[in-house]
Formats: sequence, structure tokens, C-alpha cells
Amino acid sequence: MNIILLGPPGAGKGTQAARLVERHGMKQLSTGDMLRAAIQAETPTGLKVKAIMAAGELVSDEIVSALISDELVALPQTVGLIFDGYPRTEAQARQLDAILAQHHRKLDRVIELAVDEDALVERITGRFTCAHCGAGYHDRFKLPSSTHPMKCDHCGSPDFKRRPDDNEEAVRTRMSEYRAKTAPILPFYEARGLVSRVDGMAPIDEVSANIGTILGDT
Ligand code: AP5
Ligand code: MG
Repeated sequence: MNIILLGPPGAGKGTQAARLVERHGMKQLSTGDMLRAAIQAETPTGLKVKAIMAAGELVSDEIVSALISDELVALPQTVGLIFDGYPRTEAQARQLDAILAQHHRKLDRVIELAVDEDALVERITGRFTCAHCGAGYHDRFKLPSSTHPMKCDHCGSPDFKRRPDDNEEAVRTRMSEYRAKTAPILPFYEARGLVSRVDGMAPIDEVSANIGTILGDT
């Protein structure tokens, strides 16, 4: 099964993708994660996108579609795909169609995480991750169980980090980019009967259960 998780910054795409990976052995393809890895490794792509991402603007369609296309080359047909944060423009949606066709795959479902944008600013600005294993936490909603000193629940590391684009100004830009360029791709998929809407403001477990129902979990 190949699905898209669609929703504004902080809607829970990454959170839900991680659960689908765990439960179904699917592969998460997050263009945001790929771009952050490129920045970390100081590749030519990383150097090109660093300032654009920090400001909360979208990087070019060509760059992200090339990243997705490269990832698909090595993936066996049997592995289901979760597109997280891609496509984000109508051009990317068309490029994804072409990439999937090239790999004899089809899109099974687009899951829209519907959320209240004002609540998202708090979600995003409170978010942090383990610098060692990448486990996700939140200042208010999900602190590690050991807080004095703070240690990762998964690997015990005391080192944590925050994304450079998780400040209020960049988050507002990310939201307006979503409204202007990404939300308009929904009708493209609605016309094909592929969109299912989930309440992304529900507790994380409930969102997962609702996605499970849509995907036909037993
Ligand atoms: P990207 O990395 O994709 O970021 P984003 O879309 O802004 O979304 P986030 O990762 O911030 O949020 P999320 O929906 O994954 O939520 P999460 O699960 O973390 O993109 C970053 C940048 O890269 C872009 O701005 C752009 O510059 C560039 N880029 C990437 N892809 C691109 C593309 N295709 N084209 C062009 N440019 C591209 O959850 C957030 C927080 O909320 C967490 O703390 C979590 O624990 C908490 N949470 C999650 N669900 C719930 C819940 N139900 N209740 C309470 N808390 C919750
Ligand atoms: Mg994410």
C-alpha cells in the first residue's frame, strides 16, 4: 500500500508515519528529513536549501522530486510507502504520478490530517528530539520519563536538539506556504476519490487508530 500523509506543519505527519513503519513495516519517505540529512552532511543540495528551510519557505520541486525518485530505485515493490511532507505543490503531485508509474506502483490513499492552525504553533515550538536516536518529545505534551537529568526514554542519551525552523516566525511562513501551495493539491486527489480526512486534533493514539481503520487494519 502506498499512501500520502497530507497536513500543515505540526499536523502529526511524522508522528503517524513512525507508527505505520512500526506496525506495518512500511517505508517513511520524508522530504523534510532527507533535506535535513543533506544539510547535516553539507552536500551541494544541503548547502543550497539550508537558508530556504530555516526561513520556512519551500525548496524547489526539482530538488525534492529527485530525492524521492532516488529513494524509490532501491526499494522492493513489496514495501509500502508513506509519503510524509511530499508532494507539497501541484507540480510535485504530477511528478509523483510519473515516478510511481515508472516504478509500477499506484497511490492507494491520501490521508488528510485536519487540524486547528493556532494549536499547531504551540505543538511545533515545543517540539524537540533526541540528538542521538531521533526520538520525538514535547515540552508540554511528551517529556521523557526521566527529566532530572533529562534522558531519552529510548537510548538514554542526555543530548536533545530543536529544529532551526521551529521558531514562531518560520512556523507562520510554513503555514502560509501550506495554505497557498499545498492545500490546493487536495482537489487533485479528491477528483480521483483518494482522500480520507482524519481529525488531527484528537490524541495521538486515536489518530493512529483512525488511520488504521482507513487502511483496513484488523
Ligand atoms: P517538514 O520536515 O516536512 O516539516 P513540516 O511539514 O513543516 O511538518 P513538521 O515535520 O513540522 O510536522 P509534522 O506534521 O511531521 O508533525 P510532527 O509529527 O512532528 O518540512 C520542513 C521544510 O523542508 C519545509 O518548510 C520546506 O522548507 C522543506 N521541504 C520539505 N519537503 C518539501 C517539499 N516536498 N517541497 C518543498 N520543500 C520541502 O508533530 C509535531 C509535534 O506535535 C510533535 O511534538 C508531536 O509529538 C506533537 N503531536 C503530533 N500529533 C499530536 C496529537 N495528535 N496531539 C498532540 N500532539 C501531537
Ligand atoms: Mg515532520
